[in-house]
Amino acid sequence: MLIMKTKVFLQTYGCQMNKLDTTLVTESLQRAGYDLTNGIKDADIIVMNTCSVRRHAEEKVFSHLGHLKHLKENKPNLVVCVIGCMAQRLGAELLKSKAVDIVCGPTQIPQLTDLINKTLQQKQKSIAVTSQIRRKVSNGETQALEEFESVYDTDDKQLPNQAFVRVMHGCNKFCTYCIVPYVRGPEVSRPPNAIIEQVKKLAGQGVKLVTLLGQTVNSYKYTAGEKTYCLADLLYMAAQIDGIEWIRFVTSYPAEKFFDQICQAMADVPKVCKYLHIPAQSGSDKILKAMNRKYTAEQYLNLLDRAKSIAPGLAVAGDFIVGFPGETEDDFLATVDLLKKAQYKNCFIFKYSPRPDTIAEKNLPDDVPQEIKRKRNTELLTVQEKISGQLSSQFLNRQVKVLVEGLSKKPHLDTEKKIGLPQLIGRTAEDWIVVFNGTPDLAGRFAHIKITKTSPLTLFGELVNISRSGYRG
Ligand code: 5AD
Ligand code: SF4
Repeated sequence: MLIMKTKVFLQTYGCQMNKLDTTLVTESLQRAGYDLTNGIKDADIIVMNTCSVRRHAEEKVFSHLGHLKHLKENKPNLVVCVIGCMAQRLGAELLKSKAVDIVCGPTQIPQLTDLINKTLQQKQKSIAVTSQIRRKVSNGETQALEEFESVYDTDDKQLPNQAFVRVMHGCNKFCTYCIVPYVRGPEVSRPPNAIIEQVKKLAGQGVKLVTLLGQTVNSYKYTAGEKTYCLADLLYMAAQIDGIEWIRFVTSYPAEKFFDQICQAMADVPKVCKYLHIPAQSGSDKILKAMNRKYTAEQYLNLLDRAKSIAPGLAVAGDFIVGFPGETEDDFLATVDLLKKAQYKNCFIFKYSPRPDTIAEKNLPDDVPQEIKRKRNTELLTVQEKISGQLSSQFLNRQVKVLVEGLSKKPHLDTEKKIGLPQLIGRTAEDWIVVFNGTPDLAGRFAHIKITKTSPLTLFGELVNISRSGYRG
């Protein structure tokens, strides 16, 4: 007799942390006997892993919940779970919606499978969030998260032979615009042995590139007995593991502490990718102060200079917020100036979005008009595009090594290059995107590509050969 399993559809919004949480939850649900489905209409359970970082991210979820309310009219037994940052932020308020059955915060994800089982049996709504998110995380919670993380491993499902490993939870920085400290709680670094065991296990499964994740990954700090471990220690230890060929880490906060050691690890260890995602957010000292970023534009640029001199060939990426309260044209010009000096490989630029109960939302009027925010966003992107174009053009006629990700999802410009083989996408150690033609079985392998054409964000080239390893040189 064919037994129909209960089917789950999962949808993720937001950052890499959320993607990782979704994979852990997926694994936990599968082990509990649930089946996955890619079709929302076939699902018995829908899990939405949500993001609160900007209003737009939340609006997408609300609009989706609106659709789900209709879906539920025809399918009364459908169970809808909202997990992640919005679940923590809005808690019981979300449960009032007809569409929602379960609300589960990021700290409670180890409980999600049980909550779903219970809701299916008892047909009752349920909620698990932290009541005082900034209190010290209890040992019990830390242990539950640690067990969950090590049992269900890590995010090795998205790209072949790549995996993401969380090294820390939460954030203690309290940038005045940011909701993260209020939804993901205080900084907690995971034990180095647990991280390294996880990386070893992944290497055993064929993983070649591991990306260490933290909101401020360079603040990683763990004391065991006499020794205090920092991110650089993790990099050296992970590099010892056979099979791991590239190691990346995101996202870094511009701070002095541990900085030189981390840069030194990039310089010393060929396996550590020379890539630093280090958001500046603004180039105006007045705005940086209002944002509670603990550096000036000059200190930030000095850090970058130091990083580039310790680890030559370093590629940097950044984030900026335009239209923060009080941002004048002069402040914006200071940002343009910093962006030019920093010579980023690429940048993520966001329009300021007031987040409820953050310090900026409570104390500073959102006084930069939408159209000015939009204009500054476009202007900054244009300046960055030029810089990215100049940096990428230096690759023309050179050979680069990439880890192949798989088929290129978007059609690319160089259709004339099509030679009967599909277009693949890969990335260099420094995170440059490379598109070339090749057979799909190259996914998960290292390849040398000769660059024949460049655009600001993408390099195009021809496959030269397949590489045995990812070491530089
Ligand atoms: N409005 C706009 N952008 C924001 N970010 C964080 N909070 C906000 C906000 N309230 C941006 C920052 C951060 C990135 C992940 O999102 O640039 O680095
Ligand atoms: Fe948010 Fe600042 Fe923490 Fe980054 S460092 S997560 S921007 S509070």
